[in-house]
Amino acid sequence: MHDDAAIVGALDAEGAFPTPWIREAMLAVPRAAFAPDVIWHADPVSGRYTAVDRHTDPTTWEEVVVRPGPVVTQVDDGTSDTIGDLASSSLSDYRAVASFLTELDVRPGQRILEIGTGPGWTAALLAWHLGGENVVSVEIDPTLAAAARAAHTRLGLSPTVLAGDGTLGAAHAGVFDRVHATAAFTHRVPYAWIEQARPGAVIVAPWSPGFGAGALLRLVVDDDGRTASGKFVRSVAFMELRGERNGGGAAFEAVREAEPATEEAEVGWVLESLYGDGNFTHAVALRLPDVRLRTLGGGTVWQLWDTGRSWAVVDDRPGIGKAVQGGPRRLWDEVDAALQWQDEHQVHGYDFGITVEPGRQWAWAQRPDRRWEM
Ligand SMILES: C[S@@+](CC[C@H](N)C(=O)[O-])C[C@H]1O[C@@H](n2cnc3c(N)ncnc32)[C@H](O)[C@@H]1O
Repeated sequence: MHDDAAIVGALDAEGAFPTPWIREAMLAVPRAAFAPDVIWHADPVSGRYTAVDRHTDPTTWEEVVVRPGPVVTQVDDGTSDTIGDLASSSLSDYRAVASFLTELDVRPGQRILEIGTGPGWTAALLAWHLGGENVVSVEIDPTLAAAARAAHTRLGLSPTVLAGDGTLGAAHAGVFDRVHATAAFTHRVPYAWIEQARPGAVIVAPWSPGFGAGALLRLVVDDDGRTASGKFVRSVAFMELRGERNGGGAAFEAVREAEPATEEAEVGWVLESLYGDGNFTHAVALRLPDVRLRTLGGGTVWQLWDTGRSWAVVDDRPGIGKAVQGGPRRLWDEVDAALQWQDEHQVHGYDFGITVEPGRQWAWAQRPDRRWEM
């Protein structure tokens, strides 16, 4: 059995708190205080979630809540009672929160906008440090927003929690020095976050692309207040913003069903080892941000599809080595070209960056001038 202080102490010993206030805030505002009476436990085989009620099963509830790692606090956007499939809100992992807040680099007197309040722990940590008057947090689910407000009140903290779509920021809540998203964008950084930030502001947001693993992006707003630019700083897995699940498109099966296979191609790569190489998947995700990947057979079979009508199945199992593709695009040919680009340039995942301008977004490799529109 862990307790909050033991978990924070172990992270401290690993050096997870280069900024001491985050450790102090975690000790003063324990995460467990934000866990609802019903939390969700994933079955390791089926991946489905089962409800754990604090009143009927306090032992399991405590085991799930007071341990390192995230705690799922809502599934299926609140529509399921006992079994669910999609984690739609969670109490973030201590380590992830420590690293996000370290990157955010907050200073006394600054105003913070958080996107994705969830149970309200991060907003509470920020309010403990900066004062509730300096923290505005936006949560898309009004029931969760109300629960977070209640938890804050119980603890004597007073960040402003607004119910609404955080991709629109918090339009009438002033200008911010820091924007901190705790739900992931999948392609474009919502421009409202830049519009509502001061020149020099820092924006820290997780990115969960359709291709490969996610990463944390740290942007700095330019002096003109209209453009923001920065690099990916570490890998991270985070749930997507509600409107961005599946990139806003259909499932692979539906896209494949609608379009016949029209072309075959050679593979020419060892897919299994490529999939394990984050630099390759990161590069493809940035060069083809609307292409999604699902792997089967330990990474030897790739299913690709876009948010339109195109798909490909690339089968690299022994003796096969073939790609089949359908729809208006040739998705495997495009992915193949992106893989070749990365093979030639050898860009490390953390040497990629993003620049956001009004109405446009660019990805770049190493320097902002080596860019392409995404
Ligand atoms: C991982 S949880 C946030 C964790 C949280 N900040 C904490 O303190 O531990 C992500 C939250 O983002 C919310 N969310 C998803 N899309 C959103 C959107 N467009 N605007 C605001 N909140 C959103 C979800 O409902 C969910 O509660």
